[in-house]
Amino acid sequence: MDEIEDIGSNPRVRESIEEIIARRFSRRGALLAALGTVAAVEAAAQGAGQGRGPTPMRGGPSTTSFPELRQQLAMDHAVAEDHEAHVVIRWGDPVVPDAPPFEPAQLSAEAQAMQFGYNNDFIAVLPMTPGAPIGDRALLWANHEYTNTNLMFPGLGGNPREARARVTAAQVAVEMAAHGGSLVEIERVDGRWRPVATPRLNRRITADTPMRISGPAAGHPLLRTQADPTGRAVRGTLNNCAGGTTPWGTILTCEENFNFYFGGQNPDAAQAEALRRYGIRPEGGYAWFRHVARFDMAQEPNEPNRFGWVVEIDPYDPDSVPVKRTALGRFKHEGAAHALAPDGRVVIYMGDDERFDYVYRFVTARPWNPNDRAANRDLLDEGVLSVARFEADGTMRWLPLVHGQGPLTEANGFASQADVLIHARRAADLLEATPMDRPEDVEANPATGRVYVMLTNNDRRTAAQVNAANPRPANAHGHVIELIPPGAPGRPDHAAETMRWGLFLRAGKPGQDAGAEYHRATSQDGWLSCPDNCAFDSKGRIWIATDGANTAAGIADGVWVADTMGPGRALTRLFYQAPIGAEVCGPWILPDDSALFLAIQHPGEGGDSHFEAPSTRWPDFAAGMPPRPSVIAVTKKGGGPIG
Ligand code: FEO
Ligand code: CA
Ligand code: CA
Repeated sequence: MDEIEDIGSNPRVRESIEEIIARRFSRRGALLAALGTVAAVEAAAQGAGQGRGPTPMRGGPSTTSFPELRQQLAMDHAVAEDHEAHVVIRWGDPVVPDAPPFEPAQLSAEAQAMQFGYNNDFIAVLPMTPGAPIGDRALLWANHEYTNTNLMFPGLGGNPREARARVTAAQVAVEMAAHGGSLVEIERVDGRWRPVATPRLNRRITADTPMRISGPAAGHPLLRTQADPTGRAVRGTLNNCAGGTTPWGTILTCEENFNFYFGGQNPDAAQAEALRRYGIRPEGGYAWFRHVARFDMAQEPNEPNRFGWVVEIDPYDPDSVPVKRTALGRFKHEGAAHALAPDGRVVIYMGDDERFDYVYRFVTARPWNPNDRAANRDLLDEGVLSVARFEADGTMRWLPLVHGQGPLTEANGFASQADVLIHARRAADLLEATPMDRPEDVEANPATGRVYVMLTNNDRRTAAQVNAANPRPANAHGHVIELIPPGAPGRPDHAAETMRWGLFLRAGKPGQDAGAEYHRATSQDGWLSCPDNCAFDSKGRIWIATDGANTAAGIADGVWVADTMGPGRALTRLFYQAPIGAEVCGPWILPDDSALFLAIQHPGEGGDSHFEAPSTRWPDFAAGMPPRPSVIAVTKKGGGPIG
């Protein structure tokens, strides 16, 4: 969500506002000037493919064998030629039985609340019963992170900020219904995945769905509102970016840029510092606060404290109430991927996606119970949240955010563990965690136990602000860090207090972007920009999805795959490329490697692209049909493992 991204709010890192504005203006200006009509897009696309040598071999030292895709910038997507991609479900497709047909020129909140939402991000594909193998039928979960107002509704023009400010109350209701997530039963027919005709578990979660707040911060005075004097019941989830699953088969969906939905003057002066630390401002980002009282801080000063959490949803019980698990802390949550400690405790790795913010980990107090699903129901309410500090000697330490320990005391404004969790960023500041270059997915590779941290970019880090784990100033393309937990082979201790770490790759174009670093056999198509989400196949290879589309620079997002060990380590190879304006999210690989599911988010975003004149009409390419964020599945032609 580039247009309304935040500028960073960590008070430990300061830069003059003039410098920020100057840099922002020049970058945005270049992009706007270059991107406008479809003609401009095609001209840019032609430029992007020039000056190439022959396409490299089928992998060299890499264990992958597909013919590498050529980088392109086009209205359609593309996949390595011995694979095929098909759409599983699109924005507006029916989810709940009796959902009305999609009518893009006449959206209604009622219809949208029954249809697939906008901007699919995290996806998970689960078996039809917890713990069972996946056959030809499965359960697809998709987050719906945010809405591109000017691509959804006619007549709002090409400036996203202005479009967001101009929406009506009825349009806000549509946007709220397009947020949240979708649960969709899918089936494989003739090698293609599609929604089933008569689902039993399908469900829409929106910005209005009743939810419960649990864990140490539930009921805290800062979580109480006029509508909910208990501080334990909240409506909806916002800006659900990445996520995860649990060993007992629930979904973890993460609230990321929740600040943009709130506006108005907060009358509670005591909250001023906290609001600043989370980038919550009177002018807001969306217009929701002008139309819905609870998003107006002048009316509900505490409502923003009820967002920024990880939400657990049981997909197997259609009547289950989603639960905000406060023990996992409040920040701009990217994802929540799990691993297991040798003793069975569950470890959740998490990133706080903002410039100069932190990497976190949560370890449950008790092991999970594989024999009694109900025994795990509230496992995520008790445990220790920690934040990462990286040292230059190649070690890193998990610093516990526990009330009463170190500086997290009453004298510093933390009267309880609830205070620590609600103000997790400030607690982590006091522990002197390492300010990172926008932490996105943090995921353990099940094949090796090593943990990969996607750091997407940070164009505002100065030369004076670099550290060993974030070594490049003005880091426009990001990097990937590898954590190595201690433990015997096959028994990595994800709960250990200290780990070793190293750099896996530094993104950008070799020879052009200073410090870009991959395997030296990486091809001219194998470099990437802005790693965001990742997944691992059964061979332990990493599949990296990017969020760095830049039409002016001829960069489209895509999926690159690399070995993590052996002679092909960090040899990234281009496998899939998204349509123009889209980022790629939610990579999810079936356990038998027979399909890669991808969330293609915000196709057509950027520049002057809008409802009447989008830069692409992917995936339908029908007159009058706007671009539609969609979940796709990529399979090998003729079947078999991908890659
Ligand atoms: Fe929603 Fe951090 O990307
Ligand atoms: Ca993301
Ligand atoms: Ca993203």
